[in-house]
Amino acid sequence: MAAITMEHLVKKYDDGFPAVNDISIDVADGEFLILVGPSGCGKSTLLRMVVGLEDITSGDLNINGVRVNDKQPRDRNLSMVFQNYALYPHLSVYENIAFPLRLSKGQFSEEEIDRKVREAADTLDLNEHLERKPANLSGGQRQRVAMGRAIVRDADAFLFDEPLSNLDAKLRGQMRTVIAQLQRRMGITSLYVTHDQTEAMTLGDRVAVLKRGQLQQIASPRELYEQPVNLFVAGFIGAPSMNFIPARVNGSVFHTPIGDIEVPERVQGKLTNAPEIVLLGLRPEHFEDAKFVDETKIPHGTVFDSEFTHTEWLGNQQYGYIHYQQDAAVQHKLNELAQELDADEMPAQVVVSLDASSRIRGGSTAKIWLDSRKMHVFNPETGENLTRDAEAGAELTREANEERKAEIERSRRHVGSAGSTERSDGAVTGNHMDGSTAAR
Ligand SMILES: Nc1ncnc2c1ncn2[C@@H]1O[C@H](COP(=O)(O)OP(=O)(O)O)[C@@H](O)[C@H]1O
Ligand SMILES: [Mg+2]
Repeated sequence: MAAITMEHLVKKYDDGFPAVNDISIDVADGEFLILVGPSGCGKSTLLRMVVGLEDITSGDLNINGVRVNDKQPRDRNLSMVFQNYALYPHLSVYENIAFPLRLSKGQFSEEEIDRKVREAADTLDLNEHLERKPANLSGGQRQRVAMGRAIVRDADAFLFDEPLSNLDAKLRGQMRTVIAQLQRRMGITSLYVTHDQTEAMTLGDRVAVLKRGQLQQIASPRELYEQPVNLFVAGFIGAPSMNFIPARVNGSVFHTPIGDIEVPERVQGKLTNAPEIVLLGLRPEHFEDAKFVDETKIPHGTVFDSEFTHTEWLGNQQYGYIHYQQDAAVQHKLNELAQELDADEMPAQVVVSLDASSRIRGGSTAKIWLDSRKMHVFNPETGENLTRDAEAGAELTREANEERKAEIERSRRHVGSAGSTERSDGAVTGNHMDGSTAAR
């Protein structure tokens, strides 16, 4: 079990470029922390510094309060799972999982190795495949073998570098569940790197968002979603992305290319230092086909007549697209943001979520309602979220923390009553991937 503390970590490669630029993060014992950000933002570098595969240029790395900057990877007792699995093709699944145990020569008896391998295989549903070679396994099975190899080591923490990015979408979803359950059950500190915001949101107790080597915000998924600190985090978290629409303030009204919007009460008073043009952050689900909005709710928001270019019906949800004339004053900023987010461009369009039974179609003009109370307002120059409520945000992360503790507590009780046996080393045996969970 381990708490990992990163203090002002910096990594400069030979070219002097700070791939990791002054990052401080505390990973609590048992926590599942995600590092997320676009390609090249320094996620892998940071992970490799923690595991010891990359020298630390400056700053301190502590594991359980001990500075480990100068310790060899093997002395840090961390287990890493890579994207490409790094399995040995000539060894069976059994021997691949047993490999780390055989490496520490003589430390484990043949019986112990057998017990550990079979427990891991049991946990990961690999029992039927123990004699096969990696080449004869599916991608998901290979990934589970790689995880099995990490599990048998009784490491203090798991480190994952984009472990699912070689899998197709459906399998990624399944493996997310496997990893989430495994982590909850073992209660083992985990640091997980991904560029995929969905993975980050679904797996993480907390998520650290990185941009060009710098930490932007670290918080629970809900805090990131509801109280982002800046344009970058707001644009990165959520799919479809938050819409950014230019607005000029005139008294109590925002003039925008999609229509006038009353400045909500919550926002008044937060615009004192705002520039002439701001960017409104409106999530797709803040909109609705006005026909589907309760009459009593309508006055709390704004209704527009909008011309739809097209709609996308996905069965359980529907999205509508509205184009508008971009304000030249913000084009440059939005292009820059698109580049930072690793997106091609920031089209002058609004994506709105519509009830799945809405009849709005491309080419038609329809009334849509915006719950403008939920808007964020950003300073386009600095990117700062002018409407962020830090206290409300912190409360969301506190809540998430409480829920997480309760979940671990429940799973402990569950395992206790399910008749599983606790070994002297604290690991739990006798449970399967049936959702029964235990923490150490
Ligand atoms: N061995 C290296 N030498 C020089 N630059 C590197 C090296 N590895 C990574 N970089 C650079 O450091 C930055 C961060 O890379 P990386 O940590 O791999 O990002 P991510 O995992 O977020 O995609 C990138 O600009 C990358 O080009
Ligand atoms: Mg990487």
